Amino acid sequence: MGAFMNFAVLASGHGGNLQAIINAVKKKKIKAHLKLVVSDRADAYALVRARKANISSVSINPQDFPDREAFDRKVLEHFKNFDIDFVVLAGYMRLLGRRFIKQYPHKILNIHPALLPAFKGVRAIREALAYGVKVTGVSVHFVVEEMDSGAIIMQQAVPISSRDTAKSLATKIHRVEHKIYPQAIDWLARRKLRVVGRRVFLR
Ligand code: GRF
Repeated sequence: MGAFMNFAVLASGHGGNLQAIINAVKKKKIKAHLKLVVSDRADAYALVRARKANISSVSINPQDFPDREAFDRKVLEHFKNFDIDFVVLAGYMRLLGRRFIKQYPHKILNIHPALLPAFKGVRAIREALAYGVKVTGVSVHFVVEEMDSGAIIMQQAVPISSRDTAKSLATKIHRVEHKIYPQAIDWLARRKLRVVGRRVFLR
């Protein structure tokens, strides 16, 4: 087996997925080194989780930069310092610029709380509930410039019952996220994914 790859997590909030990733790295369920956590919000609980796990972390305030490109350049600078091979978005609430994405072709993952291409965007759980679908779920996909639109690596369905509220559905979805995201990350880390157009195959 080749050398372990280094990765960074970008997070803006609570960091539930980050915690699942930290745990999976510790248990060697993800065979890669989590080197760095970056947040665009100084108050993100994800940063506390990183500190508790002794992982280097940095918060970068977008308001300190004239535009997205300048902000992205700063993030990339940190990635360079930590030799980052691939990137995992975990509740990261900003879009990445074209330059950024070009630096990491098929090396940036995101997780979305719906079965893409349904319910793109930040209100996916509430929208699925309001629409009345009986099944929603979780998607792990590669990041491209257009939001929630890259090739899909993995999906798992979550049924919606008549008793579900936004809160109970979110709990069910997050449970599934914390299970499937580490698996998908490990596949990428072990170079198990082959991408042909929009289709992603497991070697
Ligand atoms: C998750 O539901 C994820 O699918 C979405 O943002 C949420 C992040 O939650 N992209 P957390 O910060 O990982 O707890």
